[in-house]
Amino acid sequence: MTAFFVLLLSFIGLGLAIPDPFVYQHRPFDNVTIFNPPRNWTSHRTSYARTVLLEHNGDKDDTLLASWSLSPPGRVYAPIYQSKDGGYSWKELSKVYFSAAADVGSIILQVFLYELPQKFGGYPAGTVLLTANAIPADFSSTNIQLYASTDKGRSFEFVSDVAVGGGPNTTNGATPVWEPMILMHEGELGVFYSDSRDPKHGQKLAHQTTFDLKNWGEVVNDAAETNYTLRPGMTTIAKMGNGKYIFSYELAFAQEDPINAEYAVHYRIADSPFEFDTAEEILLEATDGTISSAGPQTIWTPAGGPNGTIITSDSEYSDFFINRAYGHPGAWIRVPSGKGVGYTRDLRIMPHTKGKVILVTNGGMYGRSETIVSCANWIVPDAK
Ligand SMILES: *[C@@H]1O[C@H](CO)[C@@H](O)[C@H](O)[C@H]1NC(C)=O
Ligand SMILES: *[C@@H]1O[C@H](CO)[C@@H](O)[C@H](O)[C@H]1NC(C)=O
Ligand SMILES: *[C@@H]1O[C@H](CO)[C@@H](O)[C@H](O)[C@H]1NC(C)=O
Ligand SMILES: *[C@@H]1O[C@H](CO)[C@@H](O)[C@H](O)[C@H]1NC(C)=O
Ligand SMILES: *[C@@H]1O[C@H](CO)[C@@H](O)[C@H](O)[C@H]1NC(C)=O
Repeated sequence: MTAFFVLLLSFIGLGLAIPDPFVYQHRPFDNVTIFNPPRNWTSHRTSYARTVLLEHNGDKDDTLLASWSLSPPGRVYAPIYQSKDGGYSWKELSKVYFSAAADVGSIILQVFLYELPQKFGGYPAGTVLLTANAIPADFSSTNIQLYASTDKGRSFEFVSDVAVGGGPNTTNGATPVWEPMILMHEGELGVFYSDSRDPKHGQKLAHQTTFDLKNWGEVVNDAAETNYTLRPGMTTIAKMGNGKYIFSYELAFAQEDPINAEYAVHYRIADSPFEFDTAEEILLEATDGTISSAGPQTIWTPAGGPNGTIITSDSEYSDFFINRAYGHPGAWIRVPSGKGVGYTRDLRIMPHTKGKVILVTNGGMYGRSETIVSCANWIVPDAK
């Protein structure tokens, strides 16, 4: 029998319809290398990968973009890689240079990609926004800068400076800004970031909003601890199926388990992502007693049960922490991911999978001399 017949018979035999082309093409995969620094580069370090799915530009081709931190020879840039097959293969699309990281020796940290879901600030729906923390070679400042692409990531233009802080220094008393992320809510766009400029807090989490991408409102607190020493960091926010938002972050010097959870993950839930300051702070502790720690990324997917599933990845464990009760404190379960641990792994729901398939992108661990950027699929537990 020819292979064709075996294939045909197996489809008929199992009573399967010919699968949707996307789902068929994007069957689950593991361990795809997106980027491995060339051997002739001096630095083979990568970290902090972020992705975005382009779904508002009218193309309906499910293009993914990814970026991360790297240290190339010469002037540093944020790489933009593109995948048109659900993350299975990637190619370099562009390099984005930041004005505040112009000299050799500058660095670009903590990239974040976002696609405008609607026309906004003179840009059409589907515009790709890129923000990062650009640091000049003399380390005199930290700069959260915003760039935009109206050609799906091929080229970017400078839009505005969101926030500027002192040089990169994680000691309380220093005044940098870090770790931006972007989210729109009810026609307003927020950039959320870590802010060490307020003398009342070693570090706090805050946001500024805009209606035109150029003029930024006042700094509004999201998590500002009464204890000056504590350092909340690494904002990640997800909208859940009940309409509420969950905001997760690490808390450096947290008291709950200083040995195993030096950066214990905490979270808050609110009706608006712009109103977390007054929401209750809750520790992310799993039913087995494990406290999630460091660099969380949190998403909500409709798969996995009547309330869907919140998934939190951190930078301490290979395992994920899931919650099927919209963030109820006693409902966090630690589950195996089957993926390597990484510093602030990125999670993205893949389209046409009913929320069942999650793309996990790992930019590498901080502090290692050899890292790669890789991605893999993960199937939400009990997803139908
Ligand atoms: C993933 O790929 C890398 C090389 O790209 C390899 O070193 C590693 O062993 C692979 N891991 C698994 C689990 O297959
Ligand atoms: C590294 O090798 C590539 C390909 O051979 C070459 O184009 C590039 O100029 C080299 N870079 C350095 C910094 O030597
Ligand atoms: C970092 O900030 C602290 C607190 O302001 C300061 O004492 C220290 O000298 C700074 N370190 C560097 C390398 O600038
Ligand atoms: C503030 O947090 C630090 C670090 O965890 C702790 O040592 C200190 O006791 C706390 N202070 C108060 C007043 O709780
Ligand atoms: C769904 O979430 C609610 C709380 O919002 C909880 O009472 C209920 O038990 C959850 N359902 C399941 C199946 O977990």
